Amino acid sequence: MTAKPPPCTLVVFGVTGDLTKRLLLPALRNLRRDGLLPDDFKLVGIASRDIGDEGLRTHLRQAMADFKAGGGDGDVEWFLQRAHYLSGKFEDAATYAALAKQVKGNALFYLATPPSEFSVIVQQLGKAGLVAEAGDAWRRVIIEKPFGHDLESAIALNKEILGVLQESQVFRIDHYLGKQTVQNIMVFRFANGFVEPLRSRDHIDHVQITVAETVGVEARGKFYDKTGALRDMVPNHIFQLVSLIAMEPPARFDAESLRSEKAKVLDSVQRFTPYSARGSVVRAQYAEGTVGDKKVAAYRDSPDVPQDSRTETYVAMKLMIDNWRWAGVPFYVRTGKSLAIRKTDINIRFKQAPLTLFRDTPVDTLPPNDLTIRIQPDEGVTLRFGVKVPEPQMRIEGVDLKFNYADAFTVTPSTGYETLIYDCMTGDATLFQRADNIEAGWRIVQPILDVWAADKTSPMPSYRAGSSGPEEADALLGRDGRSWRSLVPRVKP
Ligand code: BG6
Repeated sequence: MTAKPPPCTLVVFGVTGDLTKRLLLPALRNLRRDGLLPDDFKLVGIASRDIGDEGLRTHLRQAMADFKAGGGDGDVEWFLQRAHYLSGKFEDAATYAALAKQVKGNALFYLATPPSEFSVIVQQLGKAGLVAEAGDAWRRVIIEKPFGHDLESAIALNKEILGVLQESQVFRIDHYLGKQTVQNIMVFRFANGFVEPLRSRDHIDHVQITVAETVGVEARGKFYDKTGALRDMVPNHIFQLVSLIAMEPPARFDAESLRSEKAKVLDSVQRFTPYSARGSVVRAQYAEGTVGDKKVAAYRDSPDVPQDSRTETYVAMKLMIDNWRWAGVPFYVRTGKSLAIRKTDINIRFKQAPLTLFRDTPVDTLPPNDLTIRIQPDEGVTLRFGVKVPEPQMRIEGVDLKFNYADAFTVTPSTGYETLIYDCMTGDATLFQRADNIEAGWRIVQPILDVWAADKTSPMPSYRAGSSGPEEADALLGRDGRSWRSLVPRVKP
């Protein structure tokens, strides 16, 4: 049975914002449903509007009705009784003086604000003495993504934060680490004796990581056009998946050991030069098309996106990890918006068996051996291998051995934030990013950002909304004699 965290106050900066509504509140309710919030729990919401305790309660009641989660009406009331509002500007010392009166003992400060506010809030918390830990009481800060917008700004932000807080007080969220299937990568690798011996350049041909989305930029044009697919998805979510697949087994299952192994992997990724950033990375933007049965306008015709925007909505790249285990094994990664289907998976392609045994048979190719870790939405693991077709002739066909989470377990709906918030309340930083992990991710992509920023003229590749991505991404693998796994499910002829 999982223990309840100790009593604590959760202080939410940006309590009336979208993130709080969509993810934080449902996650809190699910934690309450599962008996995983302390009895002595208090929620202090801060925002600039002057709505008072009653206003906050009305807001929370509405938000909890709009975004369903676990627990009943009694649980909603439970939160409302414990909710307090503080109106104030994030840069005003007075806000923090008022906050100090509300916060005693353990406290978790959740920065659900635009990134431009992170630094000022942390500075003010420091000045007001709110993050000083006295006796057994802890003070922790959760910081949302995006953490910086390039290497320089990420280093600067880390420096500012670590000027006020100890690393052990900082919990940098990457919501991919809250996904059960992402956490399962470690269990799959380290709790099963057959996996590790096969996981090396001796047996693996290449790895493909796909994070395909059907959603487009929607109403996020203002944010997205300054960000793009590379910044939005690669140094964070995708590099988490690369690290979890490629890292060495840690000595212990604890935050420091794990985060150190991840840091080593990212440090071993071959640095892009301006030349390789052009040859091994593809960017593209979606043109109009149809996703499912929905007509989608071109990215450039989306609200708040300029007609001449050069922001990428798709990125694919080839990464090489220069260490003893992976040298020579390409990791191809791709992510994009408005694609044919929503799918995140990691596919490990094993080297082919020698064909000579079948020389005198009608078999002229062997089906590939693939191990696919299906992160979402169809969660599970698939192993593809060849079997003899039951007929007098020798023929081999590829078949799937499939484990589906939904068949094996009753999965209670969750946002992925439950584990992260619970871990933060219990002080387990395993699923959070350390300062050097964040910087290592930016260090890899920075040469690409530089090359793109300098290039104002070369044509921007495009792909039809609802397709599998741009031709240029196919050519990236084609040059190596490989191809992407199809995004659309295989149909039997
Ligand atoms: C966010 C990005 O971090 O992750 C979004 O900002 C993206 O653009 C989202 O859509 C994807 O998350 P998930 O959990 O739907 O794969």
